[in-house]
Amino acid sequence: MSSVRKKLIAGNWKMNTNRSSAIQLASHVVASSVGSDNANLLICVPAIHLADVSKLVANSKVVLGAQDGHWLESGAFTGELSMSMLKDYQVEYVLVGHSERREMFADDNQRVALKFEAALKNGLTPILCIGETLQQREQSETLNVLISQCEAVVEQVGIQAFENACVAYEPIWAIGTGKTASPEQAQEVHNELRAWFEKQDSTIAAGLQILYGGSMNAGNAKELLSQADIDGGLIGGASLKADDFLDIYSAAG
Ligand code: PGA
Repeated sequence: MSSVRKKLIAGNWKMNTNRSSAIQLASHVVASSVGSDNANLLICVPAIHLADVSKLVANSKVVLGAQDGHWLESGAFTGELSMSMLKDYQVEYVLVGHSERREMFADDNQRVALKFEAALKNGLTPILCIGETLQQREQSETLNVLISQCEAVVEQVGIQAFENACVAYEPIWAIGTGKTASPEQAQEVHNELRAWFEKQDSTIAAGLQILYGGSMNAGNAKELLSQADIDGGLIGGASLKADDFLDIYSAAG
């Protein structure tokens, strides 16, 4: 099953870089990345750098992503960006529901579902980020939490919409902490998630890219990415160093 799914190695720069370091980092990634039949390379940059970086990635193997977008098309939403504004800058992917947005910016399941829908309507591929807290894991709530996060989106857009979307499993306790889920722990969750999607639609489940995120780095990527149901990575810290990020890309085969 896994052989049909191409891997996606996605960098999430978060609120890091300034204009010159963003240009430098993106240029380095573009210059050093060779195309691969097995993996695609994506960088989700701060919105203010989209204009610069979109020029750098044009005609390269690197794809451009954004870290968030509003669910409405326009209006009185100070500080927000719509999905169509992102699309204007050659953005192809957008993260929705990253745990930092859920925890700090009130992105609940309903908003995340609306953002997911708005991304698709504007021709962007949403990457639905889901994940449990340490406390939820310790209370054996992991799968319930992940399923309810996915269910809210399926209720909004229908299961077929996942044909043009990805999921990123990011245990919150592993993000930016240096504590990675072990390959076995991650594979177990990915497998259970895929089984849940399979119950909704087996074709969608078979094609769905489920990325792992949470302290993935050049040292642990190969083992994580070799798991049958791990179809890529969403990488924060290690995506800020071009060589580390490219090593992860190489580890994807
Ligand atoms: P990390 O972040 O790789 O720094 O743990 C991952 C993420 O939050 O997407």
